[in-house]
Amino acid sequence: MDKEILEKYIKAGRIAAKVRDECKSLVKPGKNILEIAEEIERRITELGGELAFPVNIGINNIAAHYTPEKGEDILLREGDIVKIDIGAHVDGYIGDTAITISLGEYEDLLEASRKALNEAIKLLKPGIKTNEIAETIQKTIESFGFRVISNLTGHGLERFNIHADPQIPNVITSNNYMLKEDDVIAIEPFATTGIGFVKDLDEARIFSVLIDKRNMLRSMEAREIYSFGIKRNGLPFTSRWLELSKIKFRLGIKELKMKDMIYPYYILAEKEEAMVAQFEHTIIIKDKPIVTTIYDE
Ligand code: CO
Repeated sequence: MDKEILEKYIKAGRIAAKVRDECKSLVKPGKNILEIAEEIERRITELGGELAFPVNIGINNIAAHYTPEKGEDILLREGDIVKIDIGAHVDGYIGDTAITISLGEYEDLLEASRKALNEAIKLLKPGIKTNEIAETIQKTIESFGFRVISNLTGHGLERFNIHADPQIPNVITSNNYMLKEDDVIAIEPFATTGIGFVKDLDEARIFSVLIDKRNMLRSMEAREIYSFGIKRNGLPFTSRWLELSKIKFRLGIKELKMKDMIYPYYILAEKEEAMVAQFEHTIIIKDKPIVTTIYDE
């Protein structure tokens, strides 16, 4: 890997990691999640990063893809478990990291996911296969008496591409990829007290435009949203980041969906509405792998 690219990955990772760790003091009962989201996103920029995707704040059974909307007034409560999934990028090179904070119980559920991630990282080197990673994640989480969410996976990272190949599944699959030097991957084990599946809710708040599907757009709203997404080089965004009203945003999205020009990230919730914990790091595969989303200071 080019030295300049490596440095950008490391810078992005550090920024995401710092903001992730600052969350521990932000996430408290009574806090407004919209304020938390805005603070996190502001800090990423302040530290010299750009937003790789809207911060995901997953409360309790919500596993991923939830981000607050403008004007939303939801407060954290005692007993919530709160997943914060953060993405920063530097010139398109992304650091993706997540933490779960408990405002009550479920410490062992958090530990199951955290330990699964750390055990998986210990295995990493060129030549390791994704099923070896998956096996370790599954065994670790199940040793705590919990289940892995089998239809959520980690992923590769490429410039301006948050979900690149290879997938890094958390359970054994038929797609057994062998990692090679300089692959950049995010590992994110999800542990749950439920049956181990997530379902799509019928609402999406995070979107990315499909860059190669340019088409004629009728409405001003759709054109505005599409060009916003193009300026982000296809990286995900949310309505909070645009000037459009909620209604206009929805209208624009509707047209873009009809013309197959946008990808909606539906909110993902555990099927039995059970609790979910998640931890995530970004790693560059080397003989001595580089976890970009840690720092020592
Ligand atoms: Co990720």
